[in-house]
Amino acid sequence: MRTYTNRTALQNALFEARQKGNRVAFVPTMGNLHRGHIRLVQKARQLAETVVVSIFVNPMQFGPHEDLASYPRTLAADKEKLFAEGVQILYTPEEEEIYPQGPTAQTRVQVPGLEDTLCGASRPGHFTGVATVVSKFFNIVRPDSAIFGEKDFQQLSIIRKMVADLCMPIEIVSVATVRDGDGLALSSRNSFLSASERKLAPRLNEVLMETREAIACGFDNFRELETHACLELVQAGFDLDYFQIRDAHTLRRVTAETEEVAILVAARLGKPRLIDNVRLALNPVSDWGMLSAY
Ligand code: PAF
Repeated sequence: MRTYTNRTALQNALFEARQKGNRVAFVPTMGNLHRGHIRLVQKARQLAETVVVSIFVNPMQFGPHEDLASYPRTLAADKEKLFAEGVQILYTPEEEEIYPQGPTAQTRVQVPGLEDTLCGASRPGHFTGVATVVSKFFNIVRPDSAIFGEKDFQQLSIIRKMVADLCMPIEIVSVATVRDGDGLALSSRNSFLSASERKLAPRLNEVLMETREAIACGFDNFRELETHACLELVQAGFDLDYFQIRDAHTLRRVTAETEEVAILVAARLGKPRLIDNVRLALNPVSDWGMLSAY
């Protein structure tokens, strides 16, 4: 595995790979790699002969009071994991390489309609930071495909829209959320949970599953389901940001046209803010129920 901090050197290596006829798959990350990231890398390996992983803790997507300084940085361990998975190229740019004039002077990519809702409502500017850095990486790496996890479902929707709107010739591939045995979605921020918080954390996924089950059984008063889920989580000890049932394609409220719902939650538990989601395809022939859940 070759590691590049410099984009010209990276692009020379990619030029050579493409000369050999290799396809390029790209996995952008902020490091502190866990099994969820490894699944993305494994998917990338299925899709292309050359796999590029980036590790860059992007300052532009952190708010002023968020955890940029304490975000876990574990480069040596990350490198070992990527090497073991057969990744050929790792890109670890310094901040000056990505933002030569600083993040505030950077041209921005905004994705209207999707970025101000849900997590975007409580993290203003977060998704502009994500879309901007990902589009920069896409322009640097020029991959055939890029792989993202479904845990960050709003991020995935935003990247898909950005790629479509800006006519970027990149296939966006998603990979299902990887969970611990008790259902907790893997996240770099789980390491901030205390022992008692870690015990409680899977309740987030349980409430999502209970809500999905209720919809699958035909319960279609979504406001009531949301209120009930919020109460459950607050009573359990979560500091809830939102629990919402949305159209999985538009991330707006569910309408008669909705074919698939996404049930999304964000809540703080002690220090970390946790997010999770599950989805349910609605069968247009029957009412809301009886459907393929995932
Ligand atoms: O999902 C993440 O880790 C980040 O938001 C990403 C896509 C690497 C952009 O910094």
